[in-house]
This record gives sequence, structure tokens and C-alpha cells, in this order.
Amino acid sequence: MNTRNTPQNHHVRLRRTAIALVSSAAALSLSACSAIDAFGDGGKGTAGPTKGNDVTVGLLLPETENSRYEKFDYPIIKKQVAKLTDGQGKVEYANAASDEKKQKSQLQRMIDDKVDAILLDAVNSKSIASGVKAAQDAGIPVIAYDRLAEGPIDAYVSFDNELVGEAQGGAILKALGSHASSSKVVMMNGSPSDPNAAQFKQGALSELQGSVQIVKSYDTKDWKAENAAANMKKAIALVGAHDIDAVYAANDGLAGAVINALKDAGVDEIPPVTGQDAELAGVQRVISGEQYMTVYKPYPDEASAAAEMAVLKAQGRNFEFEALAADTIDSPTKKGVLYRMIPVVTLTKANVKTTVVADGIYTVKQICTAKFATDCTEIGLRK
Ligand code: BGC
Repeated sequence: MNTRNTPQNHHVRLRRTAIALVSSAAALSLSACSAIDAFGDGGKGTAGPTKGNDVTVGLLLPETENSRYEKFDYPIIKKQVAKLTDGQGKVEYANAASDEKKQKSQLQRMIDDKVDAILLDAVNSKSIASGVKAAQDAGIPVIAYDRLAEGPIDAYVSFDNELVGEAQGGAILKALGSHASSSKVVMMNGSPSDPNAAQFKQGALSELQGSVQIVKSYDTKDWKAENAAANMKKAIALVGAHDIDAVYAANDGLAGAVINALKDAGVDEIPPVTGQDAELAGVQRVISGEQYMTVYKPYPDEASAAAEMAVLKAQGRNFEFEALAADTIDSPTKKGVLYRMIPVVTLTKANVKTTVVADGIYTVKQICTAKFATDCTEIGLRK
């Protein structure tokens, strides 16, 4: 658990003392809490101490463009919910395919289906707020997953998003070395409807601003690679294909689009390009040297933490639920949201084995296809 509280992270507050008190009290109060409305909603919701293992967790994920959601987040959460409930708990899953209206109706359907708790990864963190309120009115707790949804959420589980940006920005500075101050850097940020994108950007800027020349900065609508490709073309036309010294790309999907655009413009030696997510294609580009780095976000840690919080909340085990959140964070509409923050790792050629391979995200066989055989041998990755 990352416990840092840097100036950039001033909005994240630590609640260690509170947790120590809560966890020692938890053991004593668990049996009592069923009698005293542990859920704190006057008993109007479906979730509660009488629920036992027969719980349904609603899971709303935002898109299919990046592989993480269907490949890792959903299956891991499903498995964990089953594990925590002796195989009796279920997950009702819906993916919005980047469509905020669709996500609103998916959320409404889960309210109608009377699920016991909802994990929400918002397409648009602002516009979903009324849906969160409707869930609260129906007595269904909502835990924001990965992106900090607005509205009356019960908790937030996510990676340390500013740290992601700091790792990306720091990597660019490292790659540019003593040339940094005269280097032209293009920023390809994430979607404006995703508060994470702003945090990634803020983290990156805390490293880059004043140290490099940021010549162009774009936001990428809906995190779509095609939008990043169009913006990169504009940047190339403005700055010159061979005059771009580094590109801050917020995730691997955008990094792939940026690298292709540079190649299409005749650049053979790709400048340092960052990424995030450790997508398989991203990891392979890192191994071959085409992409400078990616950020590995240990999905099993985030997804398991979220599953655990959702099940505890659904079962009305509020003390244990609260004890899992070490920090608090403010959203634009709610102060002091319980926040469980998961640390991230910079991924370069040097640590592929100890990160994504060790965590079972990819096998060496999946990474080291014929095209990457030589690169894999060079860094000691063997099938
Ligand atoms: C997630 C990233 C992801 C991006 C696009 C962000 O909210 O944290 O992991 O690459 O959305 O889906």
C-alpha cells in the first residue's frame, strides 16, 4: 500500500489512526452490528448483515478499446466475488463501450435488478452522478472503481494515478538526460471525461514543466487510438516529424497510435514514447525498444481489493469495509471519500519477468512470439 502524501497528492489523506481504531473495534462489534443497522441506511437497502453469501455485485466497466477491462478487471473480480462467498456470490456485468448514455441505462438496470452493491468505472465521471444518486436512493452502495465517479459514492478503489503520471514524466526526463531543457515534447493525454486522465497529466507535468519544452498538448476524446492518431498527425505537421524529441502518451493504446504516426511520417528511430497498462502489444514494444516504458498496474491487486470491498459492503460488514481504505480523497461533489489506493510499477525491459510474468498476466510464450525472439533472448526471457 502506498502511503505517501506528497504535495501533489495533497488531496489524498491518510486515515491510519482511524483504521487502527476501527480494526480493533471491528472484532468486538461484528456480531453487535447486525442488530444496530450496520449498513447505516435504516435498513432500506437490499444489502445488509442478513445477506450472507448470496450476494450480487453489479460491475460497470467503461470500454472495450483497451484490453484490460475484459481480460483482467472483469474475470478477476468475478473470480474473487465467488471466492469470498463460497461460490454463491454472482457478478452482473455490463460494459458501456465508451457510451455514457448506455452506461447510465446499464446502471439503472442494475438498480431495477436490485443488485446488492455496484462497482462503477465511469465513462463520464460527471454525468453518471445522477445514476449514483438513484442507486443511493434505492439503498444500493456504489463503489467507484478506477475512475472517481461523482455523486454520493461509498468508496473509491484505484491505483495511485498521480504516481502513474510522475513515473511517465520522470521516464521522459531520464531518457532525454542532459538534453532535456532543449527537447521538444508532445503530450497525448487521456479523455477529458475521465478524471484519471487529469491526474496522469498533472503527475507528468510535475516532472516535465520547466524541464522540457512542451510544444503541443492534446486531450484524447474517449481514449480512442484513432483520435490520438489524428492529433499526432497534427503535431507532426506543426513541429516536424524529426524534431519531436519525446512523446508523453498517457496509455499504451495511445502510444501505439503515436508510434505508428511517427513511422508513417518516415521516422526510423522512434524517440522515447511513454505508455501505461502493460498491454501485451505495449510490453512487446518495450522489449523491442520501440516504446520507452509502460506503467504496470497490478490488476489482480486492484480488482481483488474492489471485489472484497463490494462483498463486505453488500453483506453489511461496515467495519471491515472501512478498515480496508487507508486514505480519503475528495471528489468535486463529495469530500472525504474512503479511498483504497494501489501502488504501480514502472515497466521497462529490465523487469518484465518480475512484474507481468511473475503476476501471471502474460506467459513468456505470449510475449516472446517469433517476431520478438531475439529481443527476448537479449533480456533473458526464455520460454
Ligand atoms: C485507466 C487506464 C486506461 C484508460 C483508458 C483509465 O481510467 O486508469 O488504465 O488505460 O482509462 O481506458
